[in-house]
Amino acid sequence: MICVVHAHPYPSRSRTNRALADALRALPGVDFRSLYDLYPDFDIDAAAEQKALEQARLVVWMHPVLWYSVPALLKHWIDKVLAYGWAYGEGGHALSGKHCLWVPTAGGDERDFAPAGIHGHPFADYAPTVEQTARFCGMRWEPPYVVYDAIHYACHQLPMRSPVLRHLRRHHIRHHHARQEGNFAITATFWDRLFRTEIAAKRR
Ligand SMILES: Cc1cc2nc3c(=O)[nH]c(=O)nc-3n(C[C@H](O)[C@H](O)[C@H](O)COP(=O)(O)O)c2cc1C
Repeated sequence: MICVVHAHPYPSRSRTNRALADALRALPGVDFRSLYDLYPDFDIDAAAEQKALEQARLVVWMHPVLWYSVPALLKHWIDKVLAYGWAYGEGGHALSGKHCLWVPTAGGDERDFAPAGIHGHPFADYAPTVEQTARFCGMRWEPPYVVYDAIHYACHQLPMRSPVLRHLRRHHIRHHHARQEGNFAITATFWDRLFRTEIAAKRR
């Protein structure tokens, strides 16, 4: 059994996690646990979560990166579920030997996570707290599946169903055509204002 612990606080706006979640939910042998659906009031049932983990061989933590970290409900899940005497400490071996795969999606691309980029550090510098959480519980840390540049990817690859998202895609594609050398990664007007990369919208 694979237990996917998923946390996205804004599922209606999600593109990348939604595509991953739809694919994972359809697989046999996957217990897909969407924390914001299960616990919208943050009242986590730790016993139910522990039972789900006990049945798993592989535990997946999947979420968008929010301010360089995990969403608040996943942090709360870690605090409540990975308890002393169960996950660590005296008698706490429930997760020992299980595999752990981290699947964070990040809006930034590899240039943003370069030393001179807007995030200032490589993505790997933000990973040790998550990795050590798994290792502290005796889990086997797998190489993470990091989805970079999630918004850019969504602009090209995923269905944009609402008018706002279609506007986002149009705006991005205009950048591709108008300024191919410089700011092709611009995905929203917000970034135009920050980087002074505005281009005139063409009449259609
Ligand atoms: C409150 C907030 C904080 C964010 N912080 C970061 C961040 O620190 N680094 C980053 O690369 N992206 C950041 N993002 C972008 C999200 O990670 C990105 O939109 C998400 O992974 C895309 O996946 P989705 O389509 O499933 O929402 C942030 C987004 C929000 C809403």
